[in-house]
Amino acid sequence: MSKWPKHVTIKEVGPRDGLQNEPTVIATEDKIVWINQLSKTGLTYIEITSFVHPKWIPQLADAFDVATNIERVPGVTYAALVPNQKGLEKALAAQVDEVSVFMSASETHNRKNINKSIDDTYSVLAEVVHEAKSAPKTVRGYLSAVFGCPYEGAVSVDQVISVSEKLFEMGIDELSFGDTIGVANPRQVEKVLDSLLKRFPKEKLAMHFHDTRGTALANVLVSLEMGITTFDSSLGGLGGCPYAPGASGNVATDDLLYMLCGMNISTGVDREQLTEAALFIQNKIGRTLNSHHLLAISSCCS
Ligand code: HMG
Ligand code: MG
Repeated sequence: MSKWPKHVTIKEVGPRDGLQNEPTVIATEDKIVWINQLSKTGLTYIEITSFVHPKWIPQLADAFDVATNIERVPGVTYAALVPNQKGLEKALAAQVDEVSVFMSASETHNRKNINKSIDDTYSVLAEVVHEAKSAPKTVRGYLSAVFGCPYEGAVSVDQVISVSEKLFEMGIDELSFGDTIGVANPRQVEKVLDSLLKRFPKEKLAMHFHDTRGTALANVLVSLEMGITTFDSSLGGLGGCPYAPGASGNVATDDLLYMLCGMNISTGVDREQLTEAALFIQNKIGRTLNSHHLLAISSCCS
């Protein structure tokens, strides 16, 4: 029997993680066109925006307009990031399908990113999760700085497990583990996942690798070997957290898709339509994006 899964779910976070760190302001209409294109690629999950404070993330200040003007394709889950009760009210008014709460395994990154201690964050998120579930919405959790923090350096596996347990106790449906600043290596991923998989069901775990140091696909590969089948990625390799210095793009959806297709692992995503959507957003951003796939096709055509 093959050690590789037959199917992988790709969760496209480009319209949120991809754009939140982008200095070029993308017009609301262009975000809507882009999300509509992504909806037709076969992706089943798109994180479209975040309902955070607009002063903290100016690029996504149009969250409500984006969420209420896209064409919803049946079978696609449209999710948004929500930091607190105020964000939840807006997200529910905008009728998102899934709410994503987020916090960090590192005390300093948590404070820099959401202005609260880890302990103070629990009660805020517990209320959000409770209300979102009663709405009823599914809830995803994100845990950042799992493999290292830009302020504190190493983060212990015990700390990752302790915060994850609290998030699962709140009732989240899935937890995505973030290598926020792209420092993880495959051996470390194996070690962390080994501990996580002893405590939590693999179906509830997703991986969120940033590719700052070029190790993201290698980290995906080791996660696949360990039974993980849900990965977050951003088209073109866009992305990064503005409150994590040095953070750059997520693993590129187009590179991830290239690798999975070559390995005969199905995703349901159409490569040509995905490339069209990548070229669209590249053009709006006005520079060549970081994905290997986009670089390869630009050198083939020049
Ligand atoms: P705060 O200043 O502590 O908020 O910010 P507050 O509760 O003290 O309220 C202050 C004011 O903000 C009040 O208004 C609130 O109403 C308002 P005033 O009474 O002064 O007029 N306010 C809001 N307004 C709009 N939307 C809201 C909201 N909440 C309060 N939701 C807060 C706390 C969490 C809001 C802020 O720190 C924030 O917005 N942070 C977001 C940072 C962020 O988005 N970072 C990037 C996403 S995380 C990430 O990228 C990592 C990930 O990709 C995984 C990985 O890679 O590891 C997920
Ligand atoms: Mg991220």
